Amino acid sequence: MTAIGIHDLELATGHYVVSLTDLAESKDIAPGKFVLGLGQSEMSVLAPDEDIVSMGASAAKPLLERNGTDGIRTLLFATESGVDQSKAAGVAALELLGLPHNVRVAEIKQACYGGTAALQAALGIVSRNPTERVLIIAADNARYQLDSPGEPTQGAGAVAMLITADPALLAVEPADGISTTDVDDFWRPNDSTTAVVNGKLSIDAYLDALTDAWGDLQDHGGPAIGDIDRILYHQPYTKMAKKAQQRLRQVTGDDISTALNPGDEVDGRDTGLETSARYNRRLGNSYTASVYSALASLLDHDDSLAGDRIGIFSYGSGCVSEFFTGIVQDGYRDVRDAGTIDAALDRRVPLSIDEYRALHQGPHGTSADEVTPQVTDAPFRFAGVHEQARQYEAR
Ligand code: COA
Repeated sequence: MTAIGIHDLELATGHYVVSLTDLAESKDIAPGKFVLGLGQSEMSVLAPDEDIVSMGASAAKPLLERNGTDGIRTLLFATESGVDQSKAAGVAALELLGLPHNVRVAEIKQACYGGTAALQAALGIVSRNPTERVLIIAADNARYQLDSPGEPTQGAGAVAMLITADPALLAVEPADGISTTDVDDFWRPNDSTTAVVNGKLSIDAYLDALTDAWGDLQDHGGPAIGDIDRILYHQPYTKMAKKAQQRLRQVTGDDISTALNPGDEVDGRDTGLETSARYNRRLGNSYTASVYSALASLLDHDDSLAGDRIGIFSYGSGCVSEFFTGIVQDGYRDVRDAGTIDAALDRRVPLSIDEYRALHQGPHGTSADEVTPQVTDAPFRFAGVHEQARQYEAR
């Protein structure tokens, strides 16, 4: 059987960054609560001329420059920060990227699980015709109300992935474990620009979903825990991955290490918990992109993965989750420049807390006509709204 999976991936984020130490101090909270308690050191913030379309297209641009556009007949855009109730964000991204018009485009939504739903659809499309390639863009802007418990877990990021036969990075294996339960742990009502979250409930829902999806994977012929070398989790904040690893350790009885922070005592088999958290610790939550940011972080910071099996747990509140596995391909380090994401994170412009709060309270997601100020230095920007339609341009 032809191997199918992730051939290449790239990550983009916002123009600004907020230090969580500064955020904690502005609220008279001990910084340790955010930095160690939640496992977050920074969060990305979008400029007024950035959104999921500009960020997603910016992630996809280097991917297409490296790989060309031949055979791409599908673009799936996964997001839970949709900018329109009808038109798929990917249609604007297609135009910005100069993709041919003979490409089907659709938007996929199920909270942070959407990127994995897109991946599963892409695997099916490429299985049917291995000469086709599918472009996935998973992009989100995670926003909560100011001064709410969720505020320090905001962030923004986009991951673009190319799904192909004979992939150069990760061949996805056929067995998967799935779990869906109707639960109100997190959602964003139509009339709100910020998410509603019951954080404690979402921790329980996530861990129960992990237990159920792991059991389903075992029931469907998935590998034993001892045959999985590295494990990635959806990371709304990186401490959640540690909680997940503790749960999986308990459920399987395997001594997988729960050391998350650099310098933590390694208490068992290293499955990449710390390595896979490096980008998300600095990005904040990127919803649909989060678990694939964890994949990028692992691939970029571990040069001994060739032939290893990676387990990936994807969770989207509401809730839908999936545990699947893939094999890292030989030569994965040659596909992309592993330093580009760290460099992009370093380039973000720091915001003071007053500037960040003003930006948060500014106009967001309205259909009123506006021309946005030019701020971002990303390849694409959100230029404003004209006659209620969002406008985009290359810089
Ligand atoms: N130093 C180190 N750790 C500290 C600390 C300090 N000074 N003060 C508190 N902590 C720890 C707490 O012990 C806790 O750790 P634990 O979870 O391992 O017990 C952690 O910091 C968080 O503290 P807590 O009191 O639980 O925080 P909170 O009630 O303000 O909110 C969340 C935390 C996660 C519930 C909240 O940020 C949230 O709702 N985030 C959104 C979650 C989300 O997106 N869910 C949906 C997708 S899965």
